[in-house]
Amino acid sequence: MSTSATAAKIVIIGGEGIGPEVTAQSRRILAWFAAHRAMPIVLRDAEYGVGPYLATGEVMPADTWEAIDEADAIVFGATGGPETTAVPAEARRRASLLSLRRKFDLYANLRPIVAHPALAEAAPLKARVLDGVDFVIVRELTRGIYFGEPRGIERLADGQRRGFNTETYTTGEIRRIARVGLELARSRRGRLCSVDKANVLEASLLWREEVQALRDAEFPDVALSHLYVDNCAMQIVRAPAQFDVIVTSNIFGDILSDCAAMAAGSLGMLPSASFGAPDAAGRSKALYEPVHGSAPDIAGKAIANPLGSILSVAMLFRQTLKRPEDALLLERAVARALTGGARTADLAEPGSKPVSTREMGDAVLAALEALAPEMASGRAGEVAADKRQAAMTHS
Ligand code: IPM
Ligand code: MG
Repeated sequence: MSTSATAAKIVIIGGEGIGPEVTAQSRRILAWFAAHRAMPIVLRDAEYGVGPYLATGEVMPADTWEAIDEADAIVFGATGGPETTAVPAEARRRASLLSLRRKFDLYANLRPIVAHPALAEAAPLKARVLDGVDFVIVRELTRGIYFGEPRGIERLADGQRRGFNTETYTTGEIRRIARVGLELARSRRGRLCSVDKANVLEASLLWREEVQALRDAEFPDVALSHLYVDNCAMQIVRAPAQFDVIVTSNIFGDILSDCAAMAAGSLGMLPSASFGAPDAAGRSKALYEPVHGSAPDIAGKAIANPLGSILSVAMLFRQTLKRPEDALLLERAVARALTGGARTADLAEPGSKPVSTREMGDAVLAALEALAPEMASGRAGEVAADKRQAAMTHS
């Protein structure tokens, strides 16, 4: 069978800061699966950021938009350059990660948080609170204060300046993300926690009412609780194992996911996947990116942790390619690389020698080579064990 007609198109956009360093490792992983697992994929690289801005005047040049338009999935690295680099805010607004999320209305952002036993010592939280941590933050990604109007910085009559943004959610915008959370909870342990600030904000009050109404009407089997965001932040560090699925607004999801990263050992560990509604042809574009940002302080040093990006590729295998066995194989390879002692600087214990970004990629590739034959022989059992994770698809 020729794969070219059916092959999934994947565009890799390294972007800025440590982005290109981590996606280079994801690229090697994707190439390994294409070569060794007959994975039908076509890879294309596209430019993003200050580099193309200086060359073309656009953060995302036409060629990048074209690659994205054609793609089934985008593997993105990071956005945000050093403060001193002059990309005007206007150019960023015209084309950026945020406009990419918004253009394809990738409103459902899934951020799984898993505490790897091998990282218990590396994590800032005590090992005893990390036992059994396995939850997903469902973050609304294309509405709320990130995009709400009016917004701006204005000059007041008295000479001061005033900055303002708008937190806004309609019932429809709340219900579609609540549905993602409720369906995901139903496919997992049946518990959804909705997070808001309903004691202060009207937008949150509406959020709470709508999530509850949808649950009551269509998901009576899901146990729904509500937490204020300040309390939730505390609960995530106090007892993170209590959570199954959290659903929340754009900005609260942004903040809580960095906080939750401490249960996973490091911000460098967290993957994410973002989806929109399927188009008329039933196709849904998806964006896979690590939760960490561009980390300009360590960019170019070859020390960034590529596992957040690599684990995002595992989400791509499961969600876009519908290949749960390959997703599981990759996740096990990451776990084996960690158990084998590979640690980038963010995970290394004092006195131990960290591996480079590429060496972490090497460790995952070596683990893939070792695990692939084992998986082939015991596949049925493995896939059954993966049923819960495979159910993370929300559509
Ligand atoms: C994230 C990041 C982005 C966000 C930044 C880089 C715009 O922090 O994906 O969590 O705030 O959404
Ligand atoms: Mg963030």
